[in-house]
Amino acid sequence: MKRLDDFRLRLGGDELVPIMIGGMGVDISSSDLALEAARLGGVGHISDAMIKTVTDRRYKTKYVKAKQAQYKYNVDNVDKSDVKFDLGHLAEATKLHVEHSMSRKQGSGQIFINCMEKLTMNAPKETLKVRLSAALDAGIDGITLAAGLHLGSFALIEDHPRFRHAKLGIIVSSLRALQLFLKKSARLNRLPDYVVVEGPLAGGHLGFGMDWAKYDLATIVAEIAAWLKAEQLDIPLIPAGGIFTGSDAVRFMEMGASAVQVATRFTVTKECGLPDDVKQEYFKADEDDIEVNEISPTGYPMRMIKSSPGIGDGIRPNCEAYGYLLDANGKCAYIDAYNRELLAHPGERKIQVWDKTCLCTHMRNFAIWTCGQLTWRLKDTTLRHDDGSFQLLSAQHVFEDYQFSVDDKVNLPVAEALA
Ligand SMILES: Cc1cc2nc3c(=O)[nH]c(=O)nc-3n(C[C@H](O)[C@H](O)[C@H](O)COP(=O)(O)O)c2cc1C
Repeated sequence: MKRLDDFRLRLGGDELVPIMIGGMGVDISSSDLALEAARLGGVGHISDAMIKTVTDRRYKTKYVKAKQAQYKYNVDNVDKSDVKFDLGHLAEATKLHVEHSMSRKQGSGQIFINCMEKLTMNAPKETLKVRLSAALDAGIDGITLAAGLHLGSFALIEDHPRFRHAKLGIIVSSLRALQLFLKKSARLNRLPDYVVVEGPLAGGHLGFGMDWAKYDLATIVAEIAAWLKAEQLDIPLIPAGGIFTGSDAVRFMEMGASAVQVATRFTVTKECGLPDDVKQEYFKADEDDIEVNEISPTGYPMRMIKSSPGIGDGIRPNCEAYGYLLDANGKCAYIDAYNRELLAHPGERKIQVWDKTCLCTHMRNFAIWTCGQLTWRLKDTTLRHDDGSFQLLSAQHVFEDYQFSVDDKVNLPVAEALA
């Protein structure tokens, strides 16, 4: 049987190991994780989700404090339409994160940034334009447009000097979404350099309804590949979602995929941005502990571990500090859910909100444990210490396991003593 290393991803003039580590916000796909993928010859993603919070934590900036101070007067106001992002700060923060990542890059691989367009930030077009332009200014190798794909996003950067040189890709979960995007951007005469086809088993937000289980990644990939062929469009396809072993990846490559995008197996690596105690929760999770629910205010179903501490937590909306999910009218479904519960429970100090969550606060605090469907298999990818904890893996180990393993095997790491 072939190994994934028998294939190469050709993007523009570059030849890469066909492994892309998917973007995982908020800072779960850290700079260190992306750097490892690049060093090993593949593609890593950083994420620009809640970028100001990320730079405050990583590089000691003070953007969140500044925004909170500016809008302090609005904290008790139900109407959040006043709360705007400072576009200059947004550009600075994006550049800082991208430059910090790119300046440390080694090896022949590449670093892309994952931009979720559902982060509408109370001014969807203006903020997205700044996010994309700043990432290009700072030298990112490529941009993957994700969650809530905005059909006009290529047009937002059409005048950027790197628009035709940087790699630009999109994530879709159906042929229809791809067709719509291509139709809308046809005028620009600039096709995406790659298309990530994300199936129903992926982590994070899903591009499916609550009937996600009816869909199958291989079927969607085959359908898109057939359509591209009929249209004589040569765009690399990169399947994602539930590709757990090197052999799973090879099966997609043999179907004509150009690479695979993987994420879940990297959530338990040392380089991953999750706190170590949360990584242990990912290892421990059984199949029954994983659910797809509708608590994300974005309106997209999201997969997570059921015991995520953020589920049900009725904290006051934190839009003055964060506000990444405010729509163009300054609204977020969590604000409505919170105020409804507040009215229903007058005088109670701590309320609970079950139908929506304050996703900004809880993703920032690693309290919503979003994960792929196959997270329950992570415990079989490592060794267990005497105290019952699981040994964290190196990103290199997981990357090379995808690259070189055969026969549906997962190679276990060399035992390490507990620190
Ligand atoms: C913890 C976690 C967070 C994720 N966050 C994002 C995200 O912020 N943006 C995005 O486009 N995809 C996100 N994803 C999806 C991954 O990038 C990837 O496409 C998918 O999970 C691949 O499937 P796998 O996890 O089964 O390997 C996330 C996945 C995980 C596991």
